[in-house]
Amino acid sequence: MMLVKLGGSVITDKSKKYVFKEKTVRRLAKEIKNSGEKVIVVHGAGSFGHILAKKYGLDKGFINEKQISGVTKVQADVKGLNARVVNSLIDAGISPVSIPPSAVVECRNKKIEKINVDVFKKYLNLGLTPVTFGDVTLDRKLGFCIVSGDLLMLELAKVFKPEKSIFVSNVDGVYMDKKRMDKIHDKIVRNMKRKKTKIPDVTGSMYEKVKIGLKMSKFTKTMIINGNVNNRLCNALKGRKVVGTVIK
Ligand code: IPE
Repeated sequence: MMLVKLGGSVITDKSKKYVFKEKTVRRLAKEIKNSGEKVIVVHGAGSFGHILAKKYGLDKGFINEKQISGVTKVQADVKGLNARVVNSLIDAGISPVSIPPSAVVECRNKKIEKINVDVFKKYLNLGLTPVTFGDVTLDRKLGFCIVSGDLLMLELAKVFKPEKSIFVSNVDGVYMDKKRMDKIHDKIVRNMKRKKTKIPDVTGSMYEKVKIGLKMSKFTKTMIINGNVNNRLCNALKGRKVVGTVIK
């Protein structure tokens, strides 16, 4: 079994609200199908989540009642995005089942404390492909919080110990001093800097992803690849060598 995260930067235009990159998602769905591999799909929220989550300060947890309408809106928006991803997977010949974190995850202080993995297991055993996504969930300390697709990848990696976990992004991998790294390990990560970008991202871009990837590497082979290049995902799933960064 393999884990695939379709990043928000590949499936949406992160700078413009509600721009779904349908052509790209359809191609990636076909690449998953063509690989013949059994997968769990996680996807990011992109501009369907980050922009309003930031506006309402949802990453801070419950502060005031004004945020509540933001919780509903963001949950509805990411579900809308999820429906589009699910439909693309269906059209590619996959049998997806949507598993919304708002219903199966509970956090404490932004960390996943409880996740109903049985639901994932049972659907997988039936031959369906679970699809989950970055969402707003309950938080036992903060009331609610944002759960990123990356955190869900880590939890699922711990439980399923997949042969491989692939982060599909819009870059060829992790860069340091303008050079793409084939492999990175914890020492390199400690020297990496958090970069500030103008694009709203309440869950923290590449640096946080690499830190999560490092934790995942205990359970699974973890890599970051570019989903905008034809067949990279398919080849990576098939175990062929592809351009990207492996996190060890
Ligand atoms: C963010 O999920 C979830 C919300 C903002 C509601 P991700 O952090 O996984 O999304 P991307 O991949 O960065 O867009």
